[in-house]
Amino acid sequence: MTGVSTRAPSARLNQLPSSTLITGISELWTSDGPPLRDAALVIDGDTFAWVGPADKAPDADARVDVEGRAVLPGWVDSHTHLVFDGDRSAEFEARMAGQRYAAGGITVTTDATRAASDDRLAALLRQRVREARAGGTTCLETKTGYGLTVDEEARAARIAAAEVDEVSFLGAHVVPRGADPDEYVALVTGDMLAAVRDYVRWIDVFCEEGAFDVEQSRRVLDAGRRAGLGLRIHGNQLGYSGGVALAVELGAASVDHVNFLSHDDVEALAGSDTVATILPACDLSTRMPFAPARRLLDAGATIAIASNCNPGTSFTSSMNFCVGTAVLQQHLTLDEAIRAGTAGGAKALRRSDVGRIAPGLRADLHVLDAPAAIHLAYRPGMPLTHQVWRAGRREI
Ligand code: NIG
Repeated sequence: MTGVSTRAPSARLNQLPSSTLITGISELWTSDGPPLRDAALVIDGDTFAWVGPADKAPDADARVDVEGRAVLPGWVDSHTHLVFDGDRSAEFEARMAGQRYAAGGITVTTDATRAASDDRLAALLRQRVREARAGGTTCLETKTGYGLTVDEEARAARIAAAEVDEVSFLGAHVVPRGADPDEYVALVTGDMLAAVRDYVRWIDVFCEEGAFDVEQSRRVLDAGRRAGLGLRIHGNQLGYSGGVALAVELGAASVDHVNFLSHDDVEALAGSDTVATILPACDLSTRMPFAPARRLLDAGATIAIASNCNPGTSFTSSMNFCVGTAVLQQHLTLDEAIRAGTAGGAKALRRSDVGRIAPGLRADLHVLDAPAAIHLAYRPGMPLTHQVWRAGRREI
């Protein structure tokens, strides 16, 4: 097999002061086909320049030997809520004692988040981004949604935009205590949307009992679309909320959670371009039935795996854990799970520059401290991240 390159490799690579050849790769998971054995790759500046068999590798200025470890694209975590303050461990403990998760807990975090200074919120966010990065996540989406006033949502969006790859506006997370639902939807679709517009690429809505119904969700998404934002939905998390059908009807990029799916929902997703994003850590933490990922894949739908890191339902950003759980509990093959956590997440964010290892793409790499990527499921919870490269620079 010969390597692939966007340009004549050695001539160009030899001239560049910033090229790095990575060798000693036991398995190279590119997210395009089966893993390559005894592979090598070249990073040139912030992108991949060459991928192929080690014995055909071109020269580069620097060389890094990963000594028989497996290499994957960096994780693309397409669903998190990282801008918050406060602690909800007591709510979690009550859940473990039998209480059911309900949307109302969001307002507890909202109170704590409003009380935090800008500096504190930004520092908390940076710490959470560092934690995600330390687990191999190189592209990260996060949402607003714990501010729920015009000023607080704009503040969250501004702080998020400075730290992560993608920001979603989730003013429609829950109706704040004491507010009239229709008046609140009017605020979200009016002044609040205008205030966040410059900081966000996406609009999201929690379409669920206790949050927003299908018609309210449609109003939110229609307004977002008119403002030029892409659409995402939290749907069918706690029941058959209608969120999936709405997502497919409106051509949303992603519908996330998808725990409760009818036959028609699965068929609709399979026949659409909407990604079904599963959140295994959230399913565990809320003791919900796992999203039927196997059914979705067998029907032909595209899935993504994301962490949903948030203080209420999934306080982990470990994509290693989420991907391992999808293999162990949701019966995905390793290949399906790795793709869902990389290329699937990229598709859910409509990004073609991340999520795969191929010439021309952003050089985001995750080197596992393991000879084979199946260790993600074989050694759950172990510190398997050995190196993380983002945009051609080693960060871990
Ligand atoms: O994705 N479902 C809605 N939002 C979060 C939970 C937020 C919270 O409870 O604080 C989620 O699970």
